[in-house]
Amino acid sequence: GNKIRNAKLVLLGDVGTGKSSLVLRFVKGQFVEFQESTIGAAFFSQTVAVNDETIKFEIWDTAGQERYHSLAPMYYRGAAAAVIVYDMTNAASFTRAKKWVQELQAQGSPNTIMALAGNKADLVETRQVSVEEAQTYAQENGLFFMETSAKTAINVNDIFYEIAKRLTRA
Ligand code: GTP
Ligand code: MG
Repeated sequence: GNKIRNAKLVLLGDVGTGKSSLVLRFVKGQFVEFQESTIGAAFFSQTVAVNDETIKFEIWDTAGQERYHSLAPMYYRGAAAAVIVYDMTNAASFTRAKKWVQELQAQGSPNTIMALAGNKADLVETRQVSVEEAQTYAQENGLFFMETSAKTAINVNDIFYEIAKRLTRA
């Protein structure tokens, strides 16, 4: 058959890590160098076909600025999936990503599928977070991990597809 499943997905992460850019790449196939900082949150939807099912992602792209932190629970509560984004050229954003994971583990729904995205993978010369460090952290905390680039599109569809696959098994 062609079952359609709605799945609420939230992106969380520090300001400027590329959450909106990942969504823009996934939903519209576009990238802009001067993406504006998100105010509050933005909503998008996109479907992914997995075998005989269609996953319809209802995507909440949250704002990374600290002043919006208190809004986050509205978006991650009841989410089927969360993508926690850091910028692999910025160690502080990786620290912030771990804080988001802790918050989700403490306040989120226990069955939310969590993905860790090390974004800006195109900027290898200025890397501050190694693959090994992120992979180890992800394994220890039950997340799956990919390095992505909204700019080159590397692993962007793949991370959403992997989430969709896991949702069909849930
Ligand atoms: P807030 O909405 O403020 O929380 O930021 P955000 O996480 O949505 O980041 P945004 O998508 O606005 O991207 C911030 C900046 O990084 C923009 O100038 C983007 O063009 C750039 N950027 C995003 N993804 C990538 C990437 O994969 N590679 C490179 N080189 N730049 C990127
Ligand atoms: Mg944004």
